[in-house]
Amino acid sequence: MTKNEVLQLLSNNNEYVSGEYISKQLGVSRVSVNKAVSALKREGYVIDSVTNKGYMLLSKPDRISEMEIKPLLKTKTIGKDVLYFDTIDSTNNYIKNNYDRLSDGTVVISDSQTKGRGRLGRSFVSDKGVGIYLSVLIKPEIIDHISSLTAMTAVCLCNAIEEVTGVRPSIKWTNDIIMNNKKVCGILTEMGVEGETGKIQYVVIGIGINVNQNEEDFPKELKDIAGSIKMGCGKNTNRASLCACLLKELDTMYSDLYSNQRLYLDKYKNDCLNIGKRILVMKTKEGIEAQALGINEDFSLLVKYSDGITESIKSGEVSIRGLMGYS
Ligand code: BTN
Repeated sequence: MTKNEVLQLLSNNNEYVSGEYISKQLGVSRVSVNKAVSALKREGYVIDSVTNKGYMLLSKPDRISEMEIKPLLKTKTIGKDVLYFDTIDSTNNYIKNNYDRLSDGTVVISDSQTKGRGRLGRSFVSDKGVGIYLSVLIKPEIIDHISSLTAMTAVCLCNAIEEVTGVRPSIKWTNDIIMNNKKVCGILTEMGVEGETGKIQYVVIGIGINVNQNEEDFPKELKDIAGSIKMGCGKNTNRASLCACLLKELDTMYSDLYSNQRLYLDKYKNDCLNIGKRILVMKTKEGIEAQALGINEDFSLLVKYSDGITESIKSGEVSIRGLMGYS
């Protein structure tokens, strides 16, 4: 534990902190402080040590761990409990299998997934060290539209990415986050309902973010579709900071779930890159050409086909494509 506490002290001070001060603050020996600093250095923290001045934290490794994320969290419900894994099959599966012993707002984060799942039965590539794979458990009494929750989550992702990188991504209806014409995040929302009573058992919002991948890190078949935040904004992003920022956004969204949907709807409309464009509605293998007219109150997509007929498409039913490619 001393290691975490030493890190915390060094993180809070942008200057040299003496070994004596640290040992007094934490009530441990100078030798323990020394050992903690050496252990932190072995884990990739760059700490300068100067005789008679002490230690200064120069940089942190880009890690998805409790030590990195917890000190940054200032949320009320989402992230009050966080479970961290180095690797797991799927963070969504973990919540689905354990929801009854987990509290509302629990977050499960993993540095990699062996069976990351995407929408429509697809898999989600979840390589170690470069992405964020997390699931949020919520236990609402009622839920109007599960698709609205996913759409509001997409807005939270845009807010968080913009706050951390300075670049605001777009949303490809329904819930793909796009930078430089490539998908950098996906959302998979799932719900469990008790058969007899119809009571909601759990809603799990699974979020996968490609953060620091380079083009060559994606499998050949995803090259035209998948991108990363790094490829979108030209620099590495600290995953722990992005993670904390996203949980803060989700926490606000959850407390505003019914009172503030309009705000999210307006942002969604601004961020959605399909509006006003020709698209393919993938009801058939080739897709049916249509014009995307707008987003309805329930976040469904209003489209007009070439015969003049309009339709509101709900998420889950179909996906859409741009005429010139994925987005
Ligand atoms: C999609 O774009 O099809 C949705 C991808 C969702 C991936 C995330 S990663 C964390 C969580 N666990 C999973 O198995 N899937 C979601």
